[in-house]
Amino acid sequence: MAIHTLHRSSFGDPKNAGNLLTIEEAHQLLQEWVPNERLQLHMKQMAAVMKAWALEREGADATTALKWEIAGLLHDADWEKYPDDHCRIIIEELERRNIDPEVIHCIASHGPKYFGVKPNNSMDRMIYVFDELSGFIHAAALIRPTRYEGMDVKSVMKKLKTPSFAAQVNRDDITDALSRIDTPLETIIQFIIDHQKGVQ
Ligand SMILES: [Fe+2]
Repeated sequence: MAIHTLHRSSFGDPKNAGNLLTIEEAHQLLQEWVPNERLQLHMKQMAAVMKAWALEREGADATTALKWEIAGLLHDADWEKYPDDHCRIIIEELERRNIDPEVIHCIASHGPKYFGVKPNNSMDRMIYVFDELSGFIHAAALIRPTRYEGMDVKSVMKKLKTPSFAAQVNRDDITDALSRIDTPLETIIQFIIDHQKGVQ
């Protein structure tokens, strides 16, 4: 399995600005493309966190928040079936469906080191910030008897400094993602805990 850079910097057609899937259509795509429930949960958690950040921290309107939510929900949609072509396949599918270029660019920029696409707005930067941390926090919740209940930022910070815990989570990616925003890591961790704990 290998991840390839996309060798592209522009995605979708500006003519399609504002053209979004409904949230039901996005969930249907997720169901069809991602049978793995754990991976589905990761994307539902990302959708919830992205939407909440848009509404609570960016003052976004409902349409803009839907863009953030859809990007979160579909960012790994091709991972299970097309690991060698992640995330080219989902990008091309959304282009074929004439979806808003900002949503497609956001998905393309969720791993700059891997896909070669620079995050260039807040939605792009935040999907990159949230992706590894969301998975990491979920891994931390799974080993706690009470899961998310009573989970605090300090314990997550401590696990981040323990390289053997969730070793597949790349700490350098987290550091790089955070260097592009002004919000401290502790605030991001608390926000993720608060907004993904209820997602099923
Ligand atoms: Fe992801």
